[in-house]
Amino acid sequence: MHTPSPLNRRRFLQLSAGAVVLTAGCTSVGESGTPGTTSPAGRPLIGPEHPSIAAAEAARMSTGRVAKFDLRAAPARIGIGRRELDTWAFDGVIPGKEIRVTRGDTLEVAVRNDLPQDTTIHWHGLALRNDMDGVHDLTQAPILPGESFTYRFLAPHAGTYWFHPHMGTQLDRALYAPLIIEDPDDPGVYDIDQVIVLDDWLDGIGRTPDDVLASLAGMDMDMDMGSGSMGSMPGMDHGSMGMPEFESEILGGDAGDVDYPLHLINGRPTADRPTIEVPAGGRARLRFINAGSDTAYRVALGGHRMTVTHTDGFPVEPVEVEALLIGMGERYDVIVQPQSGAWPLVALAEGKDLTAEAIIRTSDAAATQAPPPGEHPAELDGRLLALGDLRATEPARLGTRPPDVDELIKMTGSMMPYSWGFDGAAFPQRAPIEIREGQRVRLTFENTTTMWHPIHLHGHTFRVGNDPSGPRKDTVNVLPGEQVAIEFDADNPGQWMIHCHNTYHLERGMAMVTSYVPS
Ligand code: C2O
Ligand code: CU
Repeated sequence: MHTPSPLNRRRFLQLSAGAVVLTAGCTSVGESGTPGTTSPAGRPLIGPEHPSIAAAEAARMSTGRVAKFDLRAAPARIGIGRRELDTWAFDGVIPGKEIRVTRGDTLEVAVRNDLPQDTTIHWHGLALRNDMDGVHDLTQAPILPGESFTYRFLAPHAGTYWFHPHMGTQLDRALYAPLIIEDPDDPGVYDIDQVIVLDDWLDGIGRTPDDVLASLAGMDMDMDMGSGSMGSMPGMDHGSMGMPEFESEILGGDAGDVDYPLHLINGRPTADRPTIEVPAGGRARLRFINAGSDTAYRVALGGHRMTVTHTDGFPVEPVEVEALLIGMGERYDVIVQPQSGAWPLVALAEGKDLTAEAIIRTSDAAATQAPPPGEHPAELDGRLLALGDLRATEPARLGTRPPDVDELIKMTGSMMPYSWGFDGAAFPQRAPIEIREGQRVRLTFENTTTMWHPIHLHGHTFRVGNDPSGPRKDTVNVLPGEQVAIEFDADNPGQWMIHCHNTYHLERGMAMVTSYVPS
């Protein structure tokens, strides 16, 4: 069955006419949550086909090389631990196959949609050309079932990125994969380079992510009432009468909305832990990516400290910690130098008490040597990386200048009703933030909810905070009661989403558009 796109194609065609008008602020959300075609002010926008978009890409350093890939999104039966589960995946594997290129290469990815729903692919964290950003009905028409679309864009910055659909709850299936952009100038003082993808899993174990969304949103009221108790469905965190069940001090309260039976490292649960072999005495670069939908992970390597070198692709001054907290959409690169032996790499689902694990084993250790599963290394409760510990390296810094746009945005919403937004408005009702090429933009997010949210901006890497040495990131966790300011230079024209990277919060409205308008 073909689920029609929430946004209709006619609207997209209007959007793609070069200078377009996008409606936000139109009063009806429609069946769907649609950016429409007339803004309250009726101003023209820099739409996905505006010439400035190709011009911005052409101005970037290019190697002239084109790296080609095929990607097929389709239903698949995959092995997770001892179970065979029905889900949706890229080319039948979880995670999808890593794409690895060099900075300045052009990627050409032919995507075939064999899912029973529309899809798009978003290249998370990349400052790519807007028309390839993969946001349905904002930057492109959705790829219909049975259809294909080829993404072609220059990869401007080195680092750890990833990709996933930007449609419905598809990310909470197996539809995600790493995208690594290598830096030819990186000295590379490590012996192995290993991606560690973290994920919270429930698909195919009794229910699908769409079922979870329906339960959270109260759209399956009949079922709930029939069962006699609201919130008794497995997979939900209703607790008693909507009170949070998952609490975390380090997340400042409610840790998440969804109870996942499994947590995965590179597609594998603890019962089937992967082993990463490191040459004796050598160093490993671990690239953590949180591809989860509703879980922050606290990670630690038993018996060791980790040296953080990058976040969200960009370098930071090295800082040694025992544990890291990684929100959905965030990435951290660390260097570890394991002592001879086999060590547990543990990702604790923060506030949810379950873990995903891997073994880091040096090449001189016996192949049978392994830490017992289910360990809680002391490092998990040791020195935890704080946002304030991170300083961008000198070349990665964004200098200070007075902002041309300076907005305060309140993050709003609740569990009952399950509705999220910015300034009390669910997408697309919150007016877009209008910016012009060349401007300095400061957005201050104030979290008025009882839950933390990882805020993600498309197409730009902002600086966190007002200090020029603040880290460069594209996703930042904002805890309840906190205010976090981000700053960026408007150097990549187009229409860009800014949203919470909790899959369910995004679907229920915590999103808006950062909209370039003509200067
Ligand atoms: Cu990884 Cu708009 O998201
Ligand atoms: Cu959120």
